[in-house]
Amino acid sequence: MLPKWFNDWNKSNPTNIFGPAILVGAAGGAVFLAALLITWGQPYATESMQTGPRGTGMSVPEFNVDRLAADPTIAGYVAADDITDDMIAEVSDAALANVPPALEGMPEDEYARLLVAMRSWTGIPDLMEDPENYQTQVAYSMVEMVQNINEGWIGHVQYNAEVGVNCYTCHRGQAVPSDIWFRIAPVNEVAEGWAAVQNRVTVQSQFTSLPSDALEAYLLNYEQIAVHNLDSRVAENPSDPGVRTWQDTERTYSLMNYVSNSLGVNCVFCHNSRAFYDGAQVTPQWATESLGISMVLELNNDYLVPLRDTYPENRLGPVYADAPKAACKTCHKGYQQPLQGLNMVADWPSLTLVGGGFD
Ligand code: HEC
Ligand code: HEC
Ligand code: HEC
Repeated sequence: MLPKWFNDWNKSNPTNIFGPAILVGAAGGAVFLAALLITWGQPYATESMQTGPRGTGMSVPEFNVDRLAADPTIAGYVAADDITDDMIAEVSDAALANVPPALEGMPEDEYARLLVAMRSWTGIPDLMEDPENYQTQVAYSMVEMVQNINEGWIGHVQYNAEVGVNCYTCHRGQAVPSDIWFRIAPVNEVAEGWAAVQNRVTVQSQFTSLPSDALEAYLLNYEQIAVHNLDSRVAENPSDPGVRTWQDTERTYSLMNYVSNSLGVNCVFCHNSRAFYDGAQVTPQWATESLGISMVLELNNDYLVPLRDTYPENRLGPVYADAPKAACKTCHKGYQQPLQGLNMVADWPSLTLVGGGFD
């Protein structure tokens, strides 16, 4: 390629160019990186929420890119103002006549607006059109459930501010909400008893080797959330009733992983890192969660499980054909407050009182 005289000259004048080249390359790279950081900003910047005394590791850090980004489902929310008279005019008389028992006495124009909203929130365009349809039957219970959440569990769903829940909190425009759950344990066919509920990577074990039956134990069957006795050489036998074992401990940790992931926080959002066991050394959010656990137990046992025979078969669980159930993530979807604290009830007073408040 190169002229012969150059190759001859090059051979008789050997020079090591690697040293200077590496130096120039490294310096150039550093300048380039610095320019990137200055113009685009630090990509891994975090902000921490302090939850306890300084220097004790009591903080919940979050990447700014996540913290400052809006929950993408907020944009799809249809609020009362978004509903035009044209949309209301399209609601059929049959649907208008089909008022859920929990809203009996609601003025027709108000109900028409709510129905347009409920159709968009659940993504079911003909909701309430046919009284015989199973979706209509389910929706009757759902309205009652939402009223009960907003009235009976106001201490949870309006703990910081007026937030509350409506159908969109869980459904987000889908007939089947995301992050529902079914019973799946035992998950390990080659083992029996305790060993069979763990060591399988499942959604319910939060992709760990911890047990996969924490949600059913604690958010359906009212089992006590607690770890084994913290003293050594206690005179209790693990097989005695009421004695907490290390199995209970693992299940508790499985649930706590689920809770943290549901809210997008770490453990010290609620606990003091020096004493996870002590309910007296906790943050205010611990109490909100505690109330949340009682609320979820009620939602599952009083509203969702009894709907089992109303759903078609394809809606039931893959292992036990059980009814779909809710838990923290069904509402929270990875955020501290569902929809980042968007007010879901201000425009819909009929969803905030059992019976809708029409007497
Ligand atoms: C706490 C969460 C939650 C809230 C709030 C909620 N739902 Fe549901 N909904 C569920 C769950 C869980 C299911 C069961 C999913 C399935 O059908 O597979 C469900 C199912 C349904 C179904 C049946 C869908 C189908 O095709 O199987 C309808 C209809 C429905 N909901 C309507 C409503 C309406 C209307 C509201 C508001 C008044 C509402 N829901 C509020 C959790 C919720
Ligand atoms: C949103 C708040 C919250 C978060 C986040 C949280 N916890 Fe908990 N934790 C609680 C509450 C409330 C209880 C008590 C539940 C009950 O007894 O009904 C509890 C109970 C426990 C217990 C049992 C204590 C006992 O009485 O024996 C342990 C252990 C525990 N949590 C560990 C953790 C760990 C580890 C994490 C992080 C992976 C975590 N928690 C995240 C609220 C939280
Ligand atoms: C029916 C929907 C729903 C379910 C189910 C639910 N939550 Fe909530 N939760 C809310 C709403 C709405 C708020 C916002 C309240 C506010 O900010 O005023 C909230 C707030 C919280 C807060 C306070 C957050 C803060 O920033 O102070 C905690 C902690 C919490 N929930 C934990 C849980 C846990 C743990 C579970 C499951 C055991 C759970 N929630 C289940 C709707 C729900």
